[in-house]
Amino acid sequence: MLSITQTRIPQGFIDLGVGHPGLELLPLEALHQASQALFAQSEPHFLQYGAEGGDPELRRELARFLTHHYGAPVPPERLFISGGISQALDLLCATLTQPGQSVLVEDPTYFLALGIFRERNLQVVGVPRGDFQALEAALHTHRPVLYYTVPTFHNPTGASLSHQQRQKLLHLAEEYGFWVIADEVYHLLSYGPPPPPPLGTMASERMISLGSFSKILAPGLRLGWVQATPGLLERLERAGVVQSGGGLNPFTGRVVAQAMAMGLQESHLQRLRKVYSRRLAALLEALSAVRLPVRFQPPQGGYFVWLELPPEQDAARLLQQAREEGVAFQPGVRFSPSGSFRHALRLCFAYYPEEGLLEGIRRLERVIARG
Ligand SMILES: Cc1ncc(COP(=O)(O)O)c(C=O)c1O
Repeated sequence: MLSITQTRIPQGFIDLGVGHPGLELLPLEALHQASQALFAQSEPHFLQYGAEGGDPELRRELARFLTHHYGAPVPPERLFISGGISQALDLLCATLTQPGQSVLVEDPTYFLALGIFRERNLQVVGVPRGDFQALEAALHTHRPVLYYTVPTFHNPTGASLSHQQRQKLLHLAEEYGFWVIADEVYHLLSYGPPPPPPLGTMASERMISLGSFSKILAPGLRLGWVQATPGLLERLERAGVVQSGGGLNPFTGRVVAQAMAMGLQESHLQRLRKVYSRRLAALLEALSAVRLPVRFQPPQGGYFVWLELPPEQDAARLLQQAREEGVAFQPGVRFSPSGSFRHALRLCFAYYPEEGLLEGIRRLERVIARG
C-alpha cells in the first residue's frame, strides 16, 4: 500500500519513538488562511522560479522573527532558505567538503544526520557530547572539516550546552579552522527559563546555524534556513541545484512568509509551547512515579526525554518485548556512532496528548520490570 506519511502506527499502539508533531497540532487553518490571502492577490511571482537565496519576503519576515526570539539582530542578508535542515546539511556537505574528509559529531547525536554525512563519503567520528578534552584530542587526530552539534534541547538527550561551552566551541573552530554546524531546530521550543543564546547570534566566521519550520509549523512544508556569513551564503546560492531550480521551495516559502506577516507563526509557536510544556510535565510526572531504577534529566524544551536504565539492561532487546506490550521507543544505541548508550532510550512527548503518554509509560514500566 502507498503510505501518506513517513510513519504508520497501528491503532492502539503507542510509539514514543516517533519524533513528529501530533497530527492535531498541524496548522491546517493558519496555512489555509495564509494561502487564501496570497491567492487573492493577482501577483503570480511566487509561482515563478525563485531567487537563489530564497523568497525575499520570507527572509525579511524570518529575520524579524528570529531577531525578536533570539534577542539579537539577525539580518535578512545572513539567511538562506533551504528545504529543511536535512537538505541544508546535504547542501553544506556538497559545498564545503571533499569525499574522505572527517566530520566530528556529538555522541550521541541525531542519527538521521549521520546518513547524510556518510552518503557524501565523509568519515564520521563521534566525540562524547560536552567533553572538550576529547574534542581537542579528536581535532588533533582527525583534522575535521566540520563539527555537527545540536546545542539546544538536544536530540536525543534534551540537554543544552552552556554559554561557556558554546564560546569554547567557537574558539576551537577558529583555532583549528573547522566549520561549526549548529542544528538549532529545537531552540524556539523552550518551556522554562530561556536557553543560552543560539550559536546563530554568536559572532564567528566559522559558525553556521540551521533552523527549520518543521518543529514550529509543519514538517511537510520542507522549509528551513541557513544563517551564516554572506560569503558562505553566496557559495550556497551558486550550487548547481539552487541555480538550476531557482532557489529552494519558493512557493512554500511565500506561503509561510504570508503566514508570518499575519502573525500566524507567532501564535502557533505560543500554542505549541503551551501544549508541549503540559505534555512534558505529564511525562515527567509519570516517569517520577515509576518504581524502578531509571534515571532522567528533565529537559527545559524540545521534544525528548532521555531515559537511562541500569547499565546491564539492553534497550534494543527490550524494544522487542515493548512492541508486544503495544509500546515503542528509540533505543539509545541508534544515536551513537560508537555503538554506546545501549542502556538508554529516547522518549518523545510531542506526538501524543497526555493520556497517550501516561498509558505509554504504564506499558513501558511493565516491560522494564520484566527486564
Ligand atoms: C536535530 C534534528 N535536526 C534536524 C531534523 C530534521 O529537520 P528538517 O525537517 O528541517 O529536515 C530533526 C527532526 O527530527 C532533528 O531532530
